[in-house]
Amino acid sequence: MNDSAKKRVRTPLPDAAWPTRAVAAESLLFSPGRIGPVETRTRTWVPAMVPWRASEDGFVTPEVLDWYGRFADGRPGVLVVEATGIREIASGPLLRIGDDRFLPGLRELVRVVRERSGGATRLLIQTIDFLSIRRRPEREKFLSRFLTITDAHRERVAPGGSDDDVRAALLALPHDELLAVLSEREASDLEHGYRERVDDMHLPHIAELPRTLPSLFADAAARAQEAGFDGVELHFAHAYTMASFLSRTNRRTDGYGGSRENRVRLPLEVFASVRARVGADYAVGCRFLGDEVIEGGSRIDDATYYGERFAAAGMDFLSLSKGGKFDDAKQPKVGQAAYPYTGPSGLECMPTVFVDGSPFGRNLPLAAAVRERVHAAGHATPVVGCGGINSFDLAEAALRDGACDFVGAARQSLADPDWFRKVELGRGDEVRRCIYTNYCEGLDQKHVEVTCQLWDREFGDGEANVTRSKDGKRRLEPPAWKPE
Ligand SMILES: Cc1cc2nc3c(=O)[nH]c(=O)nc-3n(C[C@H](O)[C@H](O)[C@H](O)COP(=O)(O)O)c2cc1C
Ligand code: SF4
Repeated sequence: MNDSAKKRVRTPLPDAAWPTRAVAAESLLFSPGRIGPVETRTRTWVPAMVPWRASEDGFVTPEVLDWYGRFADGRPGVLVVEATGIREIASGPLLRIGDDRFLPGLRELVRVVRERSGGATRLLIQTIDFLSIRRRPEREKFLSRFLTITDAHRERVAPGGSDDDVRAALLALPHDELLAVLSEREASDLEHGYRERVDDMHLPHIAELPRTLPSLFADAAARAQEAGFDGVELHFAHAYTMASFLSRTNRRTDGYGGSRENRVRLPLEVFASVRARVGADYAVGCRFLGDEVIEGGSRIDDATYYGERFAAAGMDFLSLSKGGKFDDAKQPKVGQAAYPYTGPSGLECMPTVFVDGSPFGRNLPLAAAVRERVHAAGHATPVVGCGGINSFDLAEAALRDGACDFVGAARQSLADPDWFRKVELGRGDEVRRCIYTNYCEGLDQKHVEVTCQLWDREFGDGEANVTRSKDGKRRLEPPAWKPE
Protein backbone atom coordinates (compact mmCIF):
# COMPACT_ATOMS: atom_id res chain seq x y z
CA MET A 1 0.00 0.00 0.00
CA ASN A 2 1.45 3.43 -0.90
CA ASP A 3 1.42 6.35 1.52
CA SER A 4 -1.54 8.16 0.06
CA ALA A 5 -3.63 4.96 0.15
CA LYS A 6 -2.86 4.67 3.86
CA LYS A 7 -4.08 8.19 4.62
CA ARG A 8 -7.27 8.35 6.61
CA VAL A 9 -10.17 9.90 4.79
CA ARG A 10 -11.97 12.52 6.85
CA THR A 11 -15.64 13.13 6.15
CA PRO A 12 -16.20 16.88 6.32
CA LEU A 13 -18.77 18.22 8.75
CA PRO A 14 -21.84 18.94 6.61
CA ASP A 15 -23.13 22.51 6.57
CA ALA A 16 -26.10 22.92 8.84
CA ALA A 17 -29.10 25.05 7.86
CA TRP A 18 -30.58 26.01 11.21
CA PRO A 19 -34.31 26.68 11.49
CA THR A 20 -35.89 29.92 12.62
CA ARG A 21 -37.64 29.85 15.96
CA ALA A 22 -41.00 29.65 14.19
CA VAL A 23 -39.91 26.70 12.06
CA ALA A 24 -38.51 24.93 15.14
CA ALA A 25 -41.80 25.47 16.95
CA GLU A 26 -43.62 23.63 14.16
CA SER A 27 -41.12 20.76 14.00
CA LEU A 28 -41.50 17.18 15.14
CA LEU A 29 -38.22 17.45 17.04
CA PHE A 30 -39.62 20.09 19.35
CA SER A 31 -43.06 18.55 19.66
CA PRO A 32 -44.07 16.58 22.75
CA GLY A 33 -43.32 12.88 23.04
CA ARG A 34 -44.24 10.09 25.42
CA ILE A 35 -42.42 7.17 27.02
CA GLY A 36 -45.04 5.05 28.72
CA PRO A 37 -46.56 7.13 31.49
CA VAL A 38 -44.10 9.99 31.03
CA GLU A 39 -44.77 12.91 28.76
CA THR A 40 -41.76 14.70 27.37
CA ARG A 41 -41.69 18.33 26.29
CA THR A 42 -39.70 17.56 23.13
CA ARG A 43 -38.30 14.52 21.32
CA THR A 44 -34.72 15.47 22.06
CA TRP A 45 -32.71 12.94 24.05
CA VAL A 46 -29.25 12.99 25.64
CA PRO A 47 -28.09 9.35 25.87
CA ALA A 48 -26.06 7.97 28.76
CA MET A 49 -22.42 9.08 28.91
CA VAL A 50 -20.03 8.12 31.68
CA PRO A 51 -18.12 11.25 32.73
CA TRP A 52 -15.88 9.71 35.48
CA ARG A 53 -16.95 12.17 38.13
CA ALA A 54 -18.43 9.96 40.88
CA SER A 55 -16.45 9.29 44.06
CA GLU A 56 -14.19 6.23 44.15
CA ASP A 57 -16.94 4.40 46.01
CA GLY A 58 -19.72 5.35 43.58
CA PHE A 59 -21.40 8.31 45.27
CA VAL A 60 -22.75 11.44 43.61
CA THR A 61 -20.18 14.25 43.99
CA PRO A 62 -20.52 18.01 43.46
CA GLU A 63 -18.87 17.44 40.04
CA VAL A 64 -21.59 14.94 39.13
CA LEU A 65 -24.24 17.50 40.08
CA ASP A 66 -22.51 20.21 38.02
CA TRP A 67 -22.20 17.86 35.05
CA TYR A 68 -25.85 16.84 34.86
CA GLY A 69 -26.98 20.31 35.89
CA ARG A 70 -25.10 21.68 32.90
CA PHE A 71 -26.93 19.29 30.54
CA ALA A 72 -30.20 20.27 32.22
CA ASP A 73 -29.49 23.94 31.39
CA GLY A 74 -29.98 22.93 27.76
CA ARG A 75 -33.46 21.52 28.56
CA PRO A 76 -33.42 18.32 26.51
CA GLY A 77 -36.68 16.38 26.48
CA VAL A 78 -34.93 13.41 28.11
CA LEU A 79 -31.57 13.16 29.85
CA VAL A 80 -30.18 9.74 30.73
CA VAL A 81 -27.74 9.47 33.62
CA GLU A 82 -24.65 7.36 32.93
CA ALA A 83 -24.40 3.58 33.31
CA THR A 84 -24.86 3.12 37.08
CA GLY A 85 -23.78 -0.10 38.80
CA ILE A 86 -26.45 -2.24 40.46
CA ARG A 87 -24.13 -4.36 42.60
CA GLU A 88 -22.00 -3.88 45.65
CA ILE A 89 -18.81 -3.93 43.59
CA ALA A 90 -16.18 -1.21 43.72
CA SER A 91 -15.72 0.13 40.19
CA GLY A 92 -13.83 3.39 40.52
CA PRO A 93 -15.54 6.73 39.90
CA LEU A 94 -18.69 5.30 38.29
CA LEU A 95 -22.07 5.93 39.88
CA ARG A 96 -23.69 3.14 41.86
CA ILE A 97 -27.25 2.33 42.92
CA GLY A 98 -26.77 -1.07 44.58
CA ASP A 99 -27.63 0.07 48.11
CA ASP A 100 -29.86 2.60 49.89
CA ARG A 101 -26.79 4.56 51.02
CA PHE A 102 -26.59 5.95 47.47
CA LEU A 103 -30.11 7.40 47.67
CA PRO A 104 -29.41 10.83 49.19
CA GLY A 105 -26.91 11.70 46.44
CA LEU A 106 -29.19 10.42 43.70
CA ARG A 107 -32.12 12.41 45.13
CA GLU A 108 -29.99 15.52 45.03
CA LEU A 109 -29.09 14.76 41.41
CA VAL A 110 -32.79 14.60 40.51
CA ARG A 111 -33.42 17.86 42.36
CA VAL A 112 -30.62 19.70 40.55
CA VAL A 113 -31.78 18.53 37.11
CA ARG A 114 -35.39 19.52 37.85
CA GLU A 115 -34.30 22.94 39.04
CA ARG A 116 -31.82 23.75 36.28
CA SER A 117 -34.09 22.52 33.48
CA GLY A 118 -37.01 24.48 34.93
CA GLY A 119 -38.86 21.17 35.11
CA ALA A 120 -38.57 20.76 31.32
CA THR A 121 -36.32 17.67 31.29
CA ARG A 122 -37.37 14.11 32.09
CA LEU A 123 -34.59 12.26 33.88
CA LEU A 124 -33.82 8.56 33.42
CA ILE A 125 -31.00 6.53 34.91
CA GLN A 126 -29.22 3.73 33.07
CA THR A 127 -28.68 0.65 35.25
CA ILE A 128 -25.86 -1.73 34.45
CA ASP A 129 -24.38 -5.05 35.47
CA PHE A 130 -20.90 -6.04 34.31
CA LEU A 131 -18.68 -9.06 34.82
CA SER A 132 -15.18 -9.18 36.16
CA ILE A 133 -12.28 -8.18 33.95
CA ARG A 134 -8.58 -8.14 34.88
CA ARG A 135 -5.57 -6.33 33.52
CA ARG A 136 -3.35 -8.01 30.94
CA PRO A 137 -0.82 -9.98 33.02
CA GLU A 138 2.94 -10.23 32.62
CA ARG A 139 3.82 -13.45 30.81
CA GLU A 140 5.89 -14.80 33.66
CA LYS A 141 3.26 -14.09 36.30
CA PHE A 142 0.55 -15.65 34.17
CA LEU A 143 2.47 -18.87 33.57
CA SER A 144 3.87 -19.25 37.06
CA ARG A 145 0.73 -18.23 39.04
CA PHE A 146 -2.55 -17.71 37.15
CA LEU A 147 -2.65 -20.51 34.60
CA THR A 148 -4.34 -23.69 35.82
CA ILE A 149 -2.14 -26.55 34.62
CA THR A 150 -4.07 -29.25 32.75
CA ASP A 151 -3.18 -32.68 31.35
CA ALA A 152 -3.29 -31.12 27.89
CA HIS A 153 -0.39 -28.84 28.85
CA ARG A 154 1.48 -31.66 30.58
CA GLU A 155 1.26 -34.00 27.61
CA ARG A 156 2.53 -31.33 25.24
CA VAL A 157 5.49 -29.93 27.18
CA ALA A 158 6.47 -32.17 30.13
CA PRO A 159 4.86 -35.64 30.01
CA GLY A 160 4.80 -37.18 33.48
CA GLY A 161 6.18 -33.99 35.05
CA SER A 162 4.90 -32.06 38.06
CA ASP A 163 2.94 -28.82 37.71
CA ASP A 164 6.15 -26.91 38.41
CA ASP A 165 7.90 -28.80 35.59
CA VAL A 166 5.06 -27.91 33.23
CA ARG A 167 5.20 -24.23 34.23
CA ALA A 168 8.96 -24.14 33.73
CA ALA A 169 8.61 -25.77 30.30
CA LEU A 170 5.89 -23.34 29.26
CA LEU A 171 7.99 -20.40 30.39
CA ALA A 172 10.88 -21.59 28.24
CA LEU A 173 8.77 -21.76 25.06
CA PRO A 174 9.00 -19.07 22.37
CA HIS A 175 5.79 -17.02 22.39
CA ASP A 176 4.28 -18.50 19.20
CA GLU A 177 4.80 -22.04 20.43
CA LEU A 178 3.36 -21.15 23.81
CA LEU A 179 0.19 -19.82 22.15
CA ALA A 180 -0.15 -23.07 20.22
CA VAL A 181 -0.03 -25.06 23.49
CA LEU A 182 -2.57 -22.91 25.31
CA SER A 183 -6.29 -23.24 24.66
CA GLU A 184 -7.96 -20.34 22.85
CA ARG A 185 -9.35 -19.06 26.13
CA GLU A 186 -6.02 -19.35 27.98
CA ALA A 187 -4.27 -17.52 25.15
CA SER A 188 -6.89 -14.76 25.36
CA ASP A 189 -6.39 -14.50 29.14
CA LEU A 190 -2.65 -14.09 28.56
CA GLU A 191 -2.86 -11.71 25.62
CA HIS A 192 -5.81 -9.54 26.71
CA GLY A 193 -6.32 -10.22 30.41
CA TYR A 194 -8.77 -12.58 32.10
CA ARG A 195 -12.40 -11.73 31.48
CA GLU A 196 -15.51 -13.58 32.68
CA ARG A 197 -18.03 -14.64 30.03
CA VAL A 198 -21.74 -15.29 30.57
CA ASP A 199 -21.27 -18.89 29.49
CA ASP A 200 -18.56 -19.69 32.05
CA MET A 201 -20.95 -22.19 33.58
CA HIS A 202 -18.20 -23.76 35.72
CA LEU A 203 -18.22 -20.57 37.83
CA PRO A 204 -21.13 -20.83 40.29
CA HIS A 205 -21.85 -17.07 40.35
CA ILE A 206 -22.06 -17.02 36.55
CA ALA A 207 -24.28 -20.10 36.42
CA GLU A 208 -26.51 -18.37 38.97
CA LEU A 209 -26.93 -15.08 37.05
CA PRO A 210 -30.50 -15.88 35.96
CA ARG A 211 -31.37 -16.25 39.65
CA THR A 212 -29.49 -13.19 40.93
CA LEU A 213 -29.87 -10.51 38.27
CA PRO A 214 -33.65 -10.01 38.14
CA SER A 215 -33.86 -8.94 41.77
CA LEU A 216 -30.67 -6.85 41.57
CA PHE A 217 -32.12 -4.89 38.63
CA ALA A 218 -35.50 -4.65 40.39
CA ASP A 219 -33.92 -3.33 43.61
CA ALA A 220 -31.98 -0.76 41.62
CA ALA A 221 -35.11 0.35 39.77
CA ALA A 222 -37.01 0.68 43.03
CA ARG A 223 -34.22 2.95 44.33
CA ALA A 224 -34.35 5.02 41.15
CA GLN A 225 -38.07 5.43 41.67
CA GLU A 226 -37.57 6.36 45.31
CA ALA A 227 -34.91 8.91 44.38
CA GLY A 228 -37.39 10.58 42.02
CA PHE A 229 -36.10 9.62 38.57
CA ASP A 230 -38.80 9.55 35.88
CA GLY A 231 -37.74 6.12 34.76
CA VAL A 232 -35.05 3.53 34.22
CA GLU A 233 -33.09 2.49 31.15
CA LEU A 234 -31.91 -1.10 31.52
CA HIS A 235 -28.46 -1.37 29.96
CA PHE A 236 -28.72 -4.32 27.59
CA ALA A 237 -26.09 -2.93 25.18
CA HIS A 238 -22.35 -2.92 24.49
CA ALA A 239 -19.89 -5.14 26.36
CA TYR A 240 -21.82 -5.84 29.53
CA THR A 241 -23.65 -8.78 31.11
CA MET A 242 -27.11 -8.39 29.63
CA ALA A 243 -25.83 -7.70 26.11
CA SER A 244 -23.72 -10.83 26.42
CA PHE A 245 -26.85 -12.84 27.17
CA LEU A 246 -28.46 -11.42 24.01
CA SER A 247 -25.35 -12.10 21.94
CA ARG A 248 -25.24 -14.89 19.38
CA THR A 249 -21.93 -15.79 21.00
CA ASN A 250 -23.78 -16.84 24.19
CA ARG A 251 -23.40 -20.62 24.43
CA ARG A 252 -25.09 -21.25 27.78
CA THR A 253 -26.77 -24.62 27.94
CA ASP A 254 -29.27 -23.94 30.73
CA GLY A 255 -32.05 -22.45 28.62
CA TYR A 256 -30.49 -18.96 28.68
CA GLY A 257 -28.18 -19.28 25.68
CA GLY A 258 -28.03 -20.71 22.18
CA SER A 259 -31.26 -19.91 20.35
CA ARG A 260 -32.67 -16.38 20.14
CA GLU A 261 -35.64 -17.40 22.27
CA ASN A 262 -33.26 -18.57 24.97
CA ARG A 263 -30.94 -15.57 24.70
CA VAL A 264 -33.76 -13.11 25.27
CA ARG A 265 -35.12 -15.06 28.23
CA LEU A 266 -33.06 -13.40 30.98
CA PRO A 267 -33.50 -9.84 29.63
CA LEU A 268 -37.26 -10.46 29.65
CA GLU A 269 -37.13 -11.92 33.16
CA VAL A 270 -35.11 -8.93 34.34
CA PHE A 271 -37.67 -6.59 32.82
CA ALA A 272 -40.59 -8.54 34.34
CA SER A 273 -38.96 -8.36 37.75
CA VAL A 274 -38.35 -4.62 37.41
CA ARG A 275 -41.87 -4.00 36.19
CA ALA A 276 -43.37 -6.01 39.05
CA ARG A 277 -41.37 -3.90 41.52
CA VAL A 278 -41.97 -0.38 40.13
CA GLY A 279 -45.50 -0.90 38.81
CA ALA A 280 -47.13 -0.05 35.49
CA ASP A 281 -47.00 3.67 36.16
CA TYR A 282 -43.24 4.03 35.84
CA ALA A 283 -41.17 4.37 32.68
CA VAL A 284 -38.95 1.37 32.04
CA GLY A 285 -37.16 0.66 28.78
CA CYS A 286 -33.83 -0.61 27.63
CA ARG A 287 -30.85 0.16 25.46
CA PHE A 288 -29.74 -2.69 23.23
CA LEU A 289 -27.70 -3.31 20.12
CA GLY A 290 -29.02 -3.18 16.58
CA ASP A 291 -25.84 -4.97 15.52
CA GLU A 292 -22.92 -6.22 17.61
CA VAL A 293 -20.52 -5.81 14.67
CA ILE A 294 -18.37 -8.76 15.74
CA GLU A 295 -17.67 -12.06 14.08
CA GLY A 296 -20.38 -14.53 15.03
CA GLY A 297 -22.33 -11.81 16.88
CA SER A 298 -25.97 -10.75 16.75
CA ARG A 299 -27.19 -8.80 13.75
CA ILE A 300 -30.19 -6.69 12.89
CA ASP A 301 -32.47 -9.72 12.45
CA ASP A 302 -31.75 -10.63 16.08
CA ALA A 303 -32.36 -7.02 17.13
CA THR A 304 -35.72 -6.76 15.38
CA TYR A 305 -36.79 -9.97 17.09
CA TYR A 306 -35.64 -8.64 20.48
CA GLY A 307 -37.37 -5.32 19.85
CA GLU A 308 -40.65 -7.05 19.17
CA ARG A 309 -40.33 -9.22 22.28
CA PHE A 310 -39.42 -6.22 24.48
CA ALA A 311 -42.34 -4.21 23.10
CA ALA A 312 -44.76 -7.11 23.58
CA ALA A 313 -43.53 -7.46 27.17
CA GLY A 314 -44.52 -3.84 27.84
CA MET A 315 -41.30 -1.86 27.73
CA ASP A 316 -41.92 1.87 27.45
CA PHE A 317 -39.08 2.67 25.05
CA LEU A 318 -36.31 1.00 23.06
CA SER A 319 -33.04 2.83 22.64
CA LEU A 320 -30.80 1.50 19.90
CA SER A 321 -27.03 1.45 19.94
CA LYS A 322 -24.41 -0.48 17.95
CA GLY A 323 -21.16 -2.38 18.66
CA GLY A 324 -18.89 -1.53 21.58
CA LYS A 325 -17.67 -5.05 22.36
CA PHE A 326 -14.66 -6.59 24.09
CA ASP A 327 -14.45 -9.33 21.48
CA ASP A 328 -12.60 -7.21 18.92
CA ALA A 329 -11.00 -4.69 21.29
CA LYS A 330 -7.34 -3.80 20.80
CA GLN A 331 -4.81 -5.72 22.84
CA PRO A 332 -4.15 -3.71 26.00
CA LYS A 333 -0.62 -3.01 27.22
CA VAL A 334 0.67 -5.26 30.00
CA GLY A 335 -0.83 -3.98 33.26
CA GLN A 336 -3.84 -2.41 31.54
CA ALA A 337 -7.36 -3.73 31.00
CA ALA A 338 -9.06 -4.18 27.62
CA TYR A 339 -11.44 -1.38 26.67
CA PRO A 340 -14.48 -2.27 24.57
CA TYR A 341 -14.44 0.77 22.28
CA THR A 342 -11.02 0.30 20.66
CA GLY A 343 -11.86 -2.15 17.87
CA PRO A 344 -14.08 -1.99 14.79
CA SER A 345 -17.23 -2.55 16.88
CA GLY A 346 -16.17 0.34 19.13
CA LEU A 347 -15.79 2.61 16.15
CA GLU A 348 -19.34 1.74 15.08
CA CYS A 349 -20.57 2.59 18.57
CA MET A 350 -19.07 6.09 18.49
CA PRO A 351 -18.30 6.65 14.82
CA THR A 352 -15.67 9.27 14.02
CA VAL A 353 -15.23 11.35 10.87
CA PHE A 354 -12.54 8.80 9.89
CA VAL A 355 -14.91 5.83 9.71
CA ASP A 356 -15.47 4.30 6.25
CA GLY A 357 -18.51 6.14 4.92
CA SER A 358 -20.17 8.90 6.88
CA PRO A 359 -20.64 8.93 10.65
CA PHE A 360 -23.67 11.21 10.40
CA GLY A 361 -26.90 9.43 11.21
CA ARG A 362 -24.96 6.22 10.60
CA ASN A 363 -26.90 3.97 12.94
CA LEU A 364 -30.41 5.20 12.12
CA PRO A 365 -31.17 2.29 9.75
CA LEU A 366 -30.93 -0.05 12.76
CA ALA A 367 -33.45 1.99 14.72
CA ALA A 368 -35.68 2.17 11.63
CA ALA A 369 -35.66 -1.61 11.16
CA VAL A 370 -36.51 -2.26 14.81
CA ARG A 371 -39.26 0.35 14.78
CA GLU A 372 -40.77 -1.09 11.63
CA ARG A 373 -40.90 -4.59 13.12
CA VAL A 374 -42.32 -3.32 16.41
CA HIS A 375 -45.04 -1.40 14.55
CA ALA A 376 -45.79 -4.34 12.25
CA ALA A 377 -46.39 -6.42 15.38
CA GLY A 378 -48.98 -3.87 16.52
CA HIS A 379 -46.98 -1.96 19.15
CA ALA A 380 -46.33 1.77 19.27
CA THR A 381 -43.33 1.55 21.62
CA PRO A 382 -41.13 4.58 20.95
CA VAL A 383 -37.66 4.00 19.55
CA VAL A 384 -34.65 6.19 20.27
CA GLY A 385 -32.19 6.64 17.41
CA CYS A 386 -28.60 7.77 17.91
CA GLY A 387 -25.19 7.94 16.26
CA GLY A 388 -23.63 11.01 14.71
CA ILE A 389 -26.75 13.16 14.84
CA ASN A 390 -25.63 16.76 14.83
CA SER A 391 -28.09 18.91 12.93
CA PHE A 392 -31.71 19.92 12.94
CA ASP A 393 -32.25 18.61 9.41
CA LEU A 394 -30.87 15.17 10.22
CA ALA A 395 -32.89 14.91 13.43
CA GLU A 396 -36.11 16.13 11.84
CA ALA A 397 -35.71 13.83 8.83
CA ALA A 398 -35.15 10.83 11.15
CA LEU A 399 -38.46 11.58 12.87
CA ARG A 400 -40.33 12.43 9.70
CA ASP A 401 -39.10 9.29 7.90
CA GLY A 402 -40.11 7.09 10.82
CA ALA A 403 -36.59 5.94 11.70
CA CYS A 404 -37.21 6.82 15.35
CA ASP A 405 -39.48 8.65 17.78
CA PHE A 406 -36.75 10.35 19.82
CA VAL A 407 -33.44 11.73 18.59
CA GLY A 408 -30.42 10.91 20.72
CA ALA A 409 -27.28 13.03 20.44
CA ALA A 410 -24.47 12.13 22.83
CA ARG A 411 -21.24 13.76 21.66
CA GLN A 412 -22.98 16.75 20.08
CA SER A 413 -24.62 17.39 23.47
CA LEU A 414 -21.25 16.99 25.19
CA ALA A 415 -19.71 19.51 22.79
CA ASP A 416 -22.62 21.87 23.44
CA PRO A 417 -25.18 20.96 26.10
CA ASP A 418 -27.26 23.98 25.01
CA TRP A 419 -27.45 22.89 21.39
CA PHE A 420 -31.04 21.64 21.36
CA ARG A 421 -32.12 24.80 23.13
CA LYS A 422 -30.19 27.07 20.79
CA VAL A 423 -31.85 25.38 17.81
CA GLU A 424 -35.28 25.62 19.40
CA LEU A 425 -34.77 29.33 20.02
CA GLY A 426 -33.76 29.91 16.39
CA ARG A 427 -30.14 30.49 17.38
CA GLY A 428 -28.63 27.45 15.70
CA ASP A 429 -25.75 29.49 14.34
CA GLU A 430 -24.43 29.67 17.93
CA VAL A 431 -24.15 25.86 18.24
CA ARG A 432 -20.65 24.60 19.08
CA ARG A 433 -20.50 21.72 16.64
CA CYS A 434 -18.89 18.41 17.59
CA ILE A 435 -16.05 17.47 15.24
CA TYR A 436 -16.34 13.71 15.92
CA THR A 437 -12.67 12.88 16.45
CA ASN A 438 -13.28 11.24 19.86
CA TYR A 439 -10.95 13.14 22.16
CA CYS A 440 -13.70 12.66 24.79
CA GLU A 441 -13.78 8.91 24.23
CA GLY A 442 -9.97 8.82 24.64
CA LEU A 443 -10.39 10.36 28.11
CA ASP A 444 -13.07 7.81 28.94
CA GLN A 445 -10.61 5.11 27.90
CA LYS A 446 -8.02 6.52 30.31
CA HIS A 447 -10.66 6.62 33.06
CA VAL A 448 -10.15 10.33 33.64
CA GLU A 449 -12.80 13.05 33.70
CA VAL A 450 -14.45 13.32 30.29
CA THR A 451 -14.39 16.79 28.73
CA CYS A 452 -14.55 18.18 25.19
CA GLN A 453 -11.60 19.61 23.33
CA LEU A 454 -13.81 22.40 22.00
CA TRP A 455 -14.21 23.98 25.43
CA ASP A 456 -11.96 22.45 28.06
CA ARG A 457 -9.04 24.91 27.65
CA GLU A 458 -11.25 28.00 27.48
CA PHE A 459 -10.87 30.00 30.66
CA GLY A 460 -12.71 33.25 30.19
CA ASP A 461 -12.44 36.50 32.17
CA GLY A 462 -14.03 36.26 35.58
CA GLU A 463 -13.89 32.46 35.52
CA ALA A 464 -10.81 32.07 37.72
CA ASN A 465 -12.62 29.73 40.08
CA VAL A 466 -13.91 27.34 37.48
CA THR A 467 -13.68 23.69 38.59
CA ARG A 468 -10.79 21.89 36.92
CA SER A 469 -9.81 18.30 36.23
CA LYS A 470 -7.52 16.56 38.73
CA ASP A 471 -4.45 17.49 36.67
CA GLY A 472 -5.60 21.14 36.85
CA LYS A 473 -5.39 21.60 33.09
CA ARG A 474 -8.97 21.29 31.90
CA ARG A 475 -12.23 22.89 32.90
CA LEU A 476 -14.82 20.27 33.81
CA GLU A 477 -17.85 21.84 32.21
CA PRO A 478 -18.47 24.14 29.26
CA PRO A 479 -18.74 27.89 29.76
CA ALA A 480 -22.28 29.05 30.49
CA TRP A 481 -24.53 30.22 27.69
CA LYS A 482 -27.17 32.81 28.42
CA PRO A 483 -30.23 32.58 26.18
CA GLU A 484 -31.11 36.23 26.79
C1 LIG B 1 -17.61 9.65 26.91
C2 LIG B 1 -18.72 8.71 26.53
C3 LIG B 1 -19.29 7.88 27.48
C4 LIG B 1 -20.32 7.01 27.14
N1 LIG B 1 -20.93 6.27 28.12
C5 LIG B 1 -22.03 5.51 27.80
C6 LIG B 1 -22.80 4.87 28.81
O1 LIG B 1 -22.56 5.01 30.02
N2 LIG B 1 -23.85 4.10 28.42
C7 LIG B 1 -24.20 3.97 27.09
O2 LIG B 1 -25.18 3.26 26.79
N3 LIG B 1 -23.50 4.60 26.13
C8 LIG B 1 -22.45 5.36 26.44
N4 LIG B 1 -21.81 6.07 25.46
C9 LIG B 1 -22.28 5.96 24.05
C10 LIG B 1 -23.24 7.11 23.72
O3 LIG B 1 -24.39 7.07 24.52
C11 LIG B 1 -23.67 7.06 22.23
O4 LIG B 1 -24.34 5.86 21.99
C12 LIG B 1 -22.51 7.18 21.26
O5 LIG B 1 -21.63 8.20 21.66
C13 LIG B 1 -22.99 7.46 19.84
O6 LIG B 1 -23.82 8.60 19.81
P1 LIG B 1 -23.27 10.05 19.29
O7 LIG B 1 -22.78 9.84 17.91
O8 LIG B 1 -24.46 10.94 19.37
O9 LIG B 1 -22.17 10.44 20.21
C14 LIG B 1 -20.77 6.95 25.79
C15 LIG B 1 -20.19 7.79 24.83
C16 LIG B 1 -19.18 8.66 25.18
C17 LIG B 1 -18.60 9.58 24.12
S1 SF4 C 1 -14.21 15.85 22.28
FE1 SF4 C 1 -14.48 15.80 20.05
S2 SF4 C 1 -15.82 14.06 19.63
FE2 SF4 C 1 -15.97 14.50 21.83
S3 SF4 C 1 -17.71 15.87 22.03
FE3 SF4 C 1 -15.92 17.19 21.81
S4 SF4 C 1 -15.73 17.60 19.63
FE4 SF4 C 1 -17.12 15.87 19.86
